[in-house]
Amino acid sequence: MSQNIESTLVENRRFPASESFIHNAQHSPEQIQALYEQAENDYEGFWKEQAEAKIDWSKPFSSVLSTERAPHFEWFNDGEVNVSYNCIDRHLEERAHQTAIIFEGERGDTRHITYKELHDEVCRFANALKVNGIQKGDRVVIYMPMIAHAVVAMQACARIGATHSVVFGGFSAEALRDRVADAGAKMIITADGGFRGGKTVRLKDAVDAALEGNPLSVEKVVVLKRTGDDIEMKEGRDVWWDEFEAGMSNYCDPVPVEAEHPLFILYTSGSTGKPKGVQHSSAGYLLGAITTMQWVFDVNPNKDVYWCTADVGWITGHTYVAYGPLAVGATQVIYEGVPMVPDAGRFWKVCEDHKVTTFYTAPTAIRALMKAGEQFPDQYDLSALRLLGTVGEPINPEAWMWYYEKIGASKCPIVDTWWQTETGANMIAPVPQTTDCKPGSCTRPLPGIDAIIVDEEGNEITTPNQGGYLVIRKPWPSMIRTVWNDDERFQNTYYPMFDGKYYLAGDNARKDEDGYFWIMGRTDDVLNVSGHRLGTMEIESALVAHEAVAEAAVVGMPHEVKGEAVLAFVICKGDRPEGEAADALVKELREWVSQQIGPIAKPDQIRFADNLPKTRSGKIMRRLLRSIGKGEEITSDISTLENPAIVAQLQGKA
Ligand code: WTA
Repeated sequence: MSQNIESTLVENRRFPASESFIHNAQHSPEQIQALYEQAENDYEGFWKEQAEAKIDWSKPFSSVLSTERAPHFEWFNDGEVNVSYNCIDRHLEERAHQTAIIFEGERGDTRHITYKELHDEVCRFANALKVNGIQKGDRVVIYMPMIAHAVVAMQACARIGATHSVVFGGFSAEALRDRVADAGAKMIITADGGFRGGKTVRLKDAVDAALEGNPLSVEKVVVLKRTGDDIEMKEGRDVWWDEFEAGMSNYCDPVPVEAEHPLFILYTSGSTGKPKGVQHSSAGYLLGAITTMQWVFDVNPNKDVYWCTADVGWITGHTYVAYGPLAVGATQVIYEGVPMVPDAGRFWKVCEDHKVTTFYTAPTAIRALMKAGEQFPDQYDLSALRLLGTVGEPINPEAWMWYYEKIGASKCPIVDTWWQTETGANMIAPVPQTTDCKPGSCTRPLPGIDAIIVDEEGNEITTPNQGGYLVIRKPWPSMIRTVWNDDERFQNTYYPMFDGKYYLAGDNARKDEDGYFWIMGRTDDVLNVSGHRLGTMEIESALVAHEAVAEAAVVGMPHEVKGEAVLAFVICKGDRPEGEAADALVKELREWVSQQIGPIAKPDQIRFADNLPKTRSGKIMRRLLRSIGKGEEITSDISTLENPAIVAQLQGKA
């Protein structure tokens, strides 16, 4: 198993939460400690109690965990629930006039939406969905900018039991088409475009291209006017959002659904094949969102202004924007754009303007903002902040310290949250009242989460700092239920070894002397570029689909800001291009990948070679390519290769 040298550096600094943080927290350290103990002693009883206390059930459950269909575990499966009711209606008595969403567009337009207004908007849209034939179980694809309407669309689906599949607005038409087809979506909800990075992103054009000439299942496309750009509306298929919901009632009965009913499908990359549709449940997923909002983020709905910067196109934007904050009755900020527009002070300005208390973002953003200099945060009043969070990739201690000191004024705990699209909610993260933070460690598994590290045979590794596979031993409520339409792929991916006993996360990790977890990177061919998950295979397939390319291999290489960058080795048909021809082809291939997948997948570097390193039996030596990508010295014996001389060329030395 590969060991990442950097991540084995010893980091011993500890940062306990301040007295005042602990004093103001929703739970005392004793209460949190009791949760850990209860979960340890009576796992199912613990989750039963949480589910009863925190969810408003349409029909109570009697069964807690069902293992009959293992590893497709089911939770609370004879109960019924409506997620939208839990996120909105149940707060109306107390919070009708409290702001649910403070929206800020990249160009500065703002809008405050109360819980009552959100209720009415969601109901109108849900009624329109129903009138247009969308029923419980139908799939609806949402391809929108990061604006409040995206949350309205998701909540409206949840209200009538339609299963949504949000596709990140940065994905290309090709990527959108694949997802729409796999999900068998009846409808797409989109916008003319969105504002991002100082430009407009023309979403509707991509929808048109995705649907062109394709006998897909889509009957209707609902289009929100956001940018006002000229777009084409196809007669009979396309309808403007405003017309779609015109005349609809402000009340729509929430449809109770079975606890296991799929709330959503979200596509994510794996090591093989096309992205897989991670299918989540309704009740168990909701419970994971609520408990972590309370334990990890300590959100106080009466005081906090919470802001998670993730786009709803990713899991973080599902659990910690569209569902979690609303389920606990919080006030949250939704911001449309990127951190660097108009300059690297934007995030801090938003924090000041809306008096953000709780701020959750990705290490890649922190590194980029740190690089821009402290003159940006220095211009703004960040004194309302009381808790900071990170997600998506390991944070290097230097960035952690900058975040802690410059943004948090050395008074805010930083919750480093490890989790995945598949886990639905935070899994390993500090509850600051009881767990001191250490820069770079996601600390300890949350109450009711049984994460351990094992060796190849599945034996638990107890030696401190020895790396191994990160696995979850017991099923948990918010876990993935299956891969949409592909139970076999679900089992092969997540329960491939250890006799199906443990959920395999796909990460390497180690535990230090204090039992703190340190994530060491993926065990598979998945890259983490700016916190975005990308499969090397997907990028390779995109490259070989280009007429000039015969073969391609993609690996990650360390990158100061993005964490990891994409390096592609490309073998062309015919001669290896050189000089200007090579430069031109690099440009073309980067553009090509952008069209095939999306700009986030563009290779940072492309190296042309005569061949790839192969064993005598013709297998590509991926491990060797990964070492080359990392710039490591090649110490392994390469004489057994079919073509040892190729190594120098791939390293750029020949
Ligand atoms: C990585 C994002 C280190 C990890 C929520 C995981 C992390 C993958 C952390 C999932 C963290 C996520 N520290 N690594 N705090 N959080 N990862 O599905 O490799 O987009 O397997 O979910 O991101 O990425 P995904």
